Amino acid sequence: MCGIVAYVGPKDAAPILLEGLQRLEYRGYDSAGVVVSNKGLKVRKVKGRVADLAAAVPARFKGATGIGHTRWATHGVPSDENAHPHLSNDERIAVVHNGIIENADELRAKLEADGAVFLSETDTEVLAHLIARTTKEADSLEEAVRTALKRVVGTYGIAVIDAERPGEVVVARNGSPIVLGIGEKEMFAASDVAALVRYTRQVVHLEDGELAVLKADGFHTFASDARETAKEPLTVDWDTGHYDTGGYEHYLLKEISEQPDTVARTLRGRLDERFNVAHLGGLNMDAREVRSFRRVKIIGCGSAYYSGQIGAQLIEELARIPAGAEPASEFRYRNPVVEPDTLYVAISQSGETYDTLAAVQELKRKGGRVLGIVNTVGSAIARECDGGVYLHAGPEVSVASTKAFTSTAVAFALLALHMGRVRDLSPADGRRICEGLRRLPDQIKEILALEPQIKELAAKYAASPSMMFVGRVRGYPVAREGAQKLKEVSYVHAEAYPASELKHGPLALIGPEMPTVAIVPDDELLDKNLTTLGEIQARGGKVIMIGHRTADPKLANECIVVPKNEVELDPILLGIPLQLFAYHAAVALERDVDKPRNLAKSVTVE
Ligand code: G6P
Repeated sequence: MCGIVAYVGPKDAAPILLEGLQRLEYRGYDSAGVVVSNKGLKVRKVKGRVADLAAAVPARFKGATGIGHTRWATHGVPSDENAHPHLSNDERIAVVHNGIIENADELRAKLEADGAVFLSETDTEVLAHLIARTTKEADSLEEAVRTALKRVVGTYGIAVIDAERPGEVVVARNGSPIVLGIGEKEMFAASDVAALVRYTRQVVHLEDGELAVLKADGFHTFASDARETAKEPLTVDWDTGHYDTGGYEHYLLKEISEQPDTVARTLRGRLDERFNVAHLGGLNMDAREVRSFRRVKIIGCGSAYYSGQIGAQLIEELARIPAGAEPASEFRYRNPVVEPDTLYVAISQSGETYDTLAAVQELKRKGGRVLGIVNTVGSAIARECDGGVYLHAGPEVSVASTKAFTSTAVAFALLALHMGRVRDLSPADGRRICEGLRRLPDQIKEILALEPQIKELAAKYAASPSMMFVGRVRGYPVAREGAQKLKEVSYVHAEAYPASELKHGPLALIGPEMPTVAIVPDDELLDKNLTTLGEIQARGGKVIMIGHRTADPKLANECIVVPKNEVELDPILLGIPLQLFAYHAAVALERDVDKPRNLAKSVTVE
């Protein structure tokens, strides 16, 4: 959350910063600002979107060193004053920041006592005043920043410029990502490679505690004790096409529609037909170790957590190991018992969700073995884990996760197949799952072809004050994610319950005003599910059934019929109509589909 861009080189910084901020806007979008250095600092910052900022930047806004920021408010409301960059009172130092300074109140009181005048409510502003004070005695900006950061408790990714040292940017990282981009006689930095790919493919990820000095002719990186560190640049293979809507009206629809390809990419090279097994090269675990685990514990946040519930079910069914999922945000705070014979799996699209990262770090401290199922290669969570599975779904730009959710479920099916085949999954069942996985991309295409029907249904039900989502066992996490998608993008209230629990409370809510979306696969629980549908209809509730049965008005008011796969894999497909449903409900309600209110794509704060 929050996006940072920095530039130093021969060109005008402002257009590069604005373009970069636009690409980072999905991370936060309530206010934005830029500062450039040219015989003093020139600043523009506004409440609103990057487009509002671009309109406020005058044509003559010259300066070849600059930093920019797009914000997701944590300390202080979205406003012009609270927007970054923040400047010291002498307007010499400018800072943009991502993260939270936990001792900001205490530092602020001390700085105020020392004469600093604060112009915003943000925690970031303390950094500008602190650095302005340390810079007086420091030989370099780098030293001033390092000294100031010693007094700071909390998380940060920061970029700093000094009016008296033009041609130089200092960046530092502790818990919030910073990536350097190496250009031809120019250097970039950002909180996310998305802002860099238009200019360079050569990047360097900073580690926590590292600081870097950027000048047009190169960069130096340092550990927190000022020792210089040696960094090898990586080449990123994501191209700018991933960051365009590619003719679709929204990223969300583009990313839903990409799923036949993204699922194929998650599977590519990983299925072995000869032995009916899955090869997952990044696990770093031999068969003996896989057999030694007695439990699997999965952690993630938001949609990642719900995909983890699908994963837990797949592992229990295929590998016969007790498995469960828990929100990482809860797990990290409850002093969990960490067992040596438990395999921990952390899930994250971005690889930088702070709650998930902190949970992984806690697990590692306690000696836990952690695998990551992550989309972003080289991200903090991926680097922290002992091994894992990359999704290869490509960058996900829309705030609501779709293709990464589906690919995570597919990655779990591969992991479950792998673990199952080293334990007691038979070759015949292995073959059945391999073949089922291979069918997924074409079956997703068939589901996408249902879009006109789903669009019509979404328009019909979008005005409902509230919707219930139910599913049983394999269908329950699908229902939870369906409700989450609808809430996130359409702001329609939605609740998800196990279908079996409906009669134990929430049935009281059912009536003509509360339609129910029911996940009803053709599995051993079909009859039980159909009984639940009868109970809902008997209370006057409308039912939208997502399943394999051909439309039957006696069963449900509406039916979305998806292609059948193996029972274990059906949840992967049943979730896709719900993504389209949420998308079209949001469009019908004229919501800001890709940037829903109050949300951010990567939540890098607590
Ligand atoms: C945020 C987003 C959610 C997302 C969650 C986990 O809360 O708004 O849509 O599911 O983070 O993100 P991750 O990148 O860790 O998968």
